[in-house]
Amino acid sequence: MKKAAIIGMGVISPIHIAAIEGNPEITLVGVCDTDKRSTCAAPEHVPFYTDYRAMIAETKPDVVHICLPHYLHAPVSMEAAELGVHVFCEKPVAMNTGEAEKFAEFEAAHPDIHIGVCLQNRFNESVEMLKELIDGGEYGAVTGVRGTVPWYRSKEYYDVAPWRGRWDTAGGGCMINQAVHTLDLMYHLGGEISGLKAVTAQLLDYGIEVEDTVSAVINYTNGAHGMFMATNANYTNESTQLSVQLEKGAFLIMDNTLYRIGADGTKETLCTDARLPGSKFYYGASHSKLIGRFYQALEEDSQDYLHVRDAVMSIRLIDAIQESGRTGQKVVL
Ligand SMILES: NC(=O)c1ccc[n+]([C@@H]2O[C@H](COP(=O)([O-])OP(=O)(O)OC[C@H]3O[C@@H](n4cnc5c(N)ncnc54)[C@H](O)[C@@H]3O)[C@@H](O)[C@H]2O)c1
Repeated sequence: MKKAAIIGMGVISPIHIAAIEGNPEITLVGVCDTDKRSTCAAPEHVPFYTDYRAMIAETKPDVVHICLPHYLHAPVSMEAAELGVHVFCEKPVAMNTGEAEKFAEFEAAHPDIHIGVCLQNRFNESVEMLKELIDGGEYGAVTGVRGTVPWYRSKEYYDVAPWRGRWDTAGGGCMINQAVHTLDLMYHLGGEISGLKAVTAQLLDYGIEVEDTVSAVINYTNGAHGMFMATNANYTNESTQLSVQLEKGAFLIMDNTLYRIGADGTKETLCTDARLPGSKFYYGASHSKLIGRFYQALEEDSQDYLHVRDAVMSIRLIDAIQESGRTGQKVVL
């Protein structure tokens, strides 16, 4: 039995609570938020703290879940790890490439501490199956990848948590906060990336600092062509789409379903993701699966989870898109 504690009791915390409370191998021993109003999300039987250091000292968790604003992810994770506590950190792994690389170096220097990163969509059944199909080689090399994130965030979303709209607390907008999952999958499924050219924009008049819309052409090292489009300025949250074209086949993930696309455009369903009742569909349903796998890796002292080093490329891609958007130039990775 492992003891878990959560730091940051905002919007995402109920998903972590559900994953912990639904796993008989984990006990939630403490939750923490500097804002006492966040107690509403905490189960009554679990002690609530406003200081995470006091919580760690008193409850002695095996793992802390980091559900904090982005600028606190790497520093608080590393502080907890220095105290000998394993860490399960929400995405993004860091605010920028420099911080992500330092965090990965820290991880390598602390092999006894497990630090898992919550890029849960890698564990969607549709993504796992597509990865197997691609890696199996039957369909040949990847020749094209398209990732689309047509989402909506209201002005209130930024007003209630102003850190989300600021460079110094969020590190960016629709990419680092929303589309990071899709960018990560474009790399995870499509392979090494050599460069990209992008435009970034602020289309909504919310008075925030960060981008709400981006598009990028992504060049894969093997010559494949990638197209990435993400926005928080759609009229609603529609399904992300991920298309992968291979030499001998084409696949699409949409509405949490993996399709094989026939030569005539017909869609054959290959698998559908598990659903997580009560969770927003656009989070994907794999938080519990990834959290369960992380705790199992702890139990078995295995490395079978998503490490900090696995998440660094998602931040490199975001930084490259930001740079290309600023300069109008292609960025080599
Ligand atoms: N994996 C996913 O699909 C997914 C989905 C949504 C959010 N997230 C991530 O979860 C994280 C939190 O997002 P959110 O939307 O829940 O944000 P939020 O603003 O709703 O919650 C953050 C909480 O942290 C608290 N906090 C701030 N500083 C603190 C400190 N020093 N000590 C303790 N508590 C502190 C705030 O009071 C707030 O309640 C972000 O990193 C976000 O990117 C991930």
